[in-house]
Amino acid sequence: MLHNFQELFISPITKNKLHYNGTHANEKWLNGFIRELDEAIEYKVVNGIPCFVDSKDDPWSDYDKLEEQLGMSPDGMIEKNWLGMVQNDSFVKKAQRLISISAEQEGLILEIGCGPSGGLTPLVLNKNSNSKILLNDYGFWILSETQNFIEKTNKWKNISYAQFDASKMPLCDTSFDLIQSLGGFSNMKNSHQVLDECYRILKPKGKLCFIDAVANKNQLESLPEDILQRAFSDMPFLEFGFKKLLNLHQFKNIQIEIIEKRQLQKDESSLAAEASKYNVEIDIELSSIIAEK
Ligand SMILES: C[S@@+](CC[C@H](N)C(=O)[O-])C[C@H]1O[C@@H](n2cnc3c(N)ncnc32)[C@H](O)[C@@H]1O
Repeated sequence: MLHNFQELFISPITKNKLHYNGTHANEKWLNGFIRELDEAIEYKVVNGIPCFVDSKDDPWSDYDKLEEQLGMSPDGMIEKNWLGMVQNDSFVKKAQRLISISAEQEGLILEIGCGPSGGLTPLVLNKNSNSKILLNDYGFWILSETQNFIEKTNKWKNISYAQFDASKMPLCDTSFDLIQSLGGFSNMKNSHQVLDECYRILKPKGKLCFIDAVANKNQLESLPEDILQRAFSDMPFLEFGFKKLLNLHQFKNIQIEIIEKRQLQKDESSLAAEASKYNVEIDIELSSIIAEK
């Protein structure tokens, strides 16, 4: 954990400040615990990564299951995905405006739900190798593998990692200058809480920059009522759209640019797979979204 981020951790339950107790390497955290002063609650730090998710709740914790789910060996996947992101010229072009805003940010950046492709981080680092980014995911394996790849690459010195649920961030109020994500919101339950948490930890005028997809509401409305209600409750942006949802969570100066329109494939979304059983096709609009606290 880089020095810049070390003072920012709080208990997601009591909201009290957490203090590190453990080994260091070059002033970075290595192995130990972060805990409150009275030591009532403590969280492990493994190889510099604070862990706020119990391994039994971590969907990425079972290597064999992972291999089965992915249909391939997860070995080398992170490196391949990161390089693939940077080489995807057409996507890079579409995301250019958003990436530039992040790359020009000299303060602290948080990437939520970075996933196996690193979200927007590979593209931001490609423009500014000094960006100070805290990478977050629910899965420890993702973060640990990403850390191995980044250390091997030895090009980016200001990256840290934290395993937590983005709807209960163990981070101080008004501590980050920018939060970014690629496809994070559509993969997270509790988007209402995630947006509240984003608002809380951003500094005044801090920016939320993300790319995500919204499905065509008319097509969704031809689904059976129970499926529709479940989709709306899991993914409120499907019901409200991102502009209304961000407004509801107090964000201002919301700019939305549609960067791609296409059909959602069965193999990339459980909603699309379910919809196909009712012969409903779902078109999505991939949008680049910038909002301000
Ligand atoms: C499938 S990925 C989406 C794309 C990802 N940004 C990428 O570039 O690879 C979604 C990621 O969000 C993570 N995730 C899901 N719910 C989360 C939560 N509540 N907090 C943090 N991460 C979460 C998952 O573990 C997964 O790695």
